[in-house]
Amino acid sequence: MKVLLTGGAGYIGSHTCIELIKAGHTPIIADNFDNSCPEVLNRIKEITGQEVRLYELDVCDGEAVDRMFVENDFDAVIHFAGLKAVGESCAVPLRYYRNNLDSTLTLLEVMKKYGVQNFVFSSSATVYGVPERVPLVEGMPTGCTNPYGWTKLMNEQILTDASAADSGLSVVLLRYFNPIGAHESGRIGEDPNGIPNNLMPYITQVAAGKLKELGVFGNDYPTHDGTGVRDYIHVVDLAVAHVKAIDYAAAHKGTEIFNIGTGTGYSVLDIVNTFMRVNDLVIPYSIKPRRPGDIAECYADPSKAAEVLGWKAERGLEEMCRDSWNWQSHNKNGYK
Ligand code: WQD
Repeated sequence: MKVLLTGGAGYIGSHTCIELIKAGHTPIIADNFDNSCPEVLNRIKEITGQEVRLYELDVCDGEAVDRMFVENDFDAVIHFAGLKAVGESCAVPLRYYRNNLDSTLTLLEVMKKYGVQNFVFSSSATVYGVPERVPLVEGMPTGCTNPYGWTKLMNEQILTDASAADSGLSVVLLRYFNPIGAHESGRIGEDPNGIPNNLMPYITQVAAGKLKELGVFGNDYPTHDGTGVRDYIHVVDLAVAHVKAIDYAAAHKGTEIFNIGTGTGYSVLDIVNTFMRVNDLVIPYSIKPRRPGDIAECYADPSKAAEVLGWKAERGLEEMCRDSWNWQSHNKNGYK
């Protein structure tokens, strides 16, 4: 299939691009490099031997998107592009709503005009808000605690309504848990702007000597060691889920939601200790107050994805920690 990847130069998009090529598909990337680098394209070519066509554009720009659809007969769209920093979304919520909702609306309108019927959306476990219990199942109540999360949930609603009104449209909503790790080659990986907000890039930058020590946000949660528990998933496993999702979308109509996690929760200290052990490194850390908005535990019940998509995470925590460090240690300044 010819697949449009919006935000295809980003962390998850670039890994998905490689898995699509491996599966025999033709990905085409649209990216404005707001939070990614053109160098990613060279790395993808190195890994796959294939040149991927790039459109440098903003997905909110309807005319540019229209021109791209005129030039390409897409079979499916995977929509990764979006602003994704939780803290920033509280400071500039209108920017988040404008950007993250407009891009989806633009894509849906242009897809309708050109008869493109398969849409896979990057949603997030954040749409479960403060869950009553874990593991999380797709039918559980939703609700968000910040504008970033609301843009994910609102996009889910927009896409669900669009597919209910258009019997030709297929929508797959993938609720990602916590993606970490990198491609085994160490040539592509996560390259956050500035000081990382997320745990694994913070750890790898401490390991690289770019940051002094890790702050562990709270050790008084009701978890096995008091630190927050999350469902970390290897980004290559997550990328493979997108390949399954476009196949599923092409064969079914309507909307389906899938949790994309491993089903296992690990604490912050589990991650730090595994990272130190497998990479033979010391990560200095100290306990800090809880981070506002954090929850104690969040992990998936991924059984629907296994049963319906035939997808299961295959890579364990040691591999995630090894691959994260392999990427960071060989690319001290990311793609720069
Ligand atoms: C994981 C755990 C922290 C940093 C967020 C968004 C979510 C999604 C992914 C994406 C928590 C602890 C972290 C640090 C720490 N967004 N931690 N010290 O919060 O589960 O999810 O990112 O685009 O929508 O909410 O991920 O990696 O920030 O935190 O102790 O320096 O690590 O408290 O328990 P989170 P995270």
